[in-house]
Amino acid sequence: MTAALPPGGRAPERAVWINGVIVRGRDAVLSVFDRGARDGGGIFETLRVYDGRPFAWQRHMERLVLSAAELGFPVPPSPAQLRGGIDQLLAEQRLTDAVVRLTVTRGIAGGRPTRAGAWIEAEPLAARLWPGTRRGDASVMFSCVPFQQGWIGRHKTTSRMAWDLAREEARAAGADEALLVAPDGHLVEGAASNVFVVRGGEVLTPPLAHDVLPGVTRAIVLELCRELRLPAREAPIVAGHLREAQEIFLTNTVQEVLPVALLEGRAVAARGMGMKLLAAYRTRVGLER
Ligand SMILES: Cc1ncc(COP(=O)(O)O)c(C=O)c1O
Repeated sequence: MTAALPPGGRAPERAVWINGVIVRGRDAVLSVFDRGARDGGGIFETLRVYDGRPFAWQRHMERLVLSAAELGFPVPPSPAQLRGGIDQLLAEQRLTDAVVRLTVTRGIAGGRPTRAGAWIEAEPLAARLWPGTRRGDASVMFSCVPFQQGWIGRHKTTSRMAWDLAREEARAAGADEALLVAPDGHLVEGAASNVFVVRGGEVLTPPLAHDVLPGVTRAIVLELCRELRLPAREAPIVAGHLREAQEIFLTNTVQEVLPVALLEGRAVAARGMGMKLLAAYRTRVGLER
């Protein structure tokens, strides 16, 4: 155990859980032979912790375990062990409202048995909220680079370069998020979010079949639409038609449901549906706590 530090310390000082032990960030080391370090051979989950409890734990674990199986990872640490690691880390850092990142790697090739590497980080929530989330509405832009993620886009892998560069484009332009558009002109997702539009009174989001990340928040929002009897479905969205959308909103575990106020600097007509779904989402968070 490390001596407790005030929450929000710099990453090298922060406590990290790695393969079952808690160490300081600077001492959390991964072998250069681990495929997570060499080849981007890792998957991760980002969870939001409300009042000491990670929200939608089962859903995040399902996504992680399914991706691990589909991508030929060794068996990851059990959900119970990972959950114990999160609780330990939150207690260590005295965090109650936080963002937790859980990473599992493909481990070292040729080992027998090949073990997955795993580590967990926790940060105070405030550091991770976008300016738009703090305000209650976001500014978004289109990424200039046509996005061709292919099937790997269905998984939350640590091969993040394409998504990270798009986010940096947005940051450089003073926007919260970059919208990713396929070479055929269809909207895919945000660099770190799923995208919904409201058109003709219907809530639409690009289909998972288009290699979109199956966002946990996206799935919950589609369920909430059913509960609230709001017409909602997956549908291909031509990015060029976005300017005519009545509404646009983003979903992401940390930012929750975020209405878009500005698209490429131009005002989006409305925000009511996004706000309604944000309220319903927060109710769901409260009920599951
Ligand atoms: C590319 C991408 N799409 C969608 C999402 C939203 O997923 P979730 O709702 O599970 O956070 C994320 C989250 O970081 C993401 O990186």
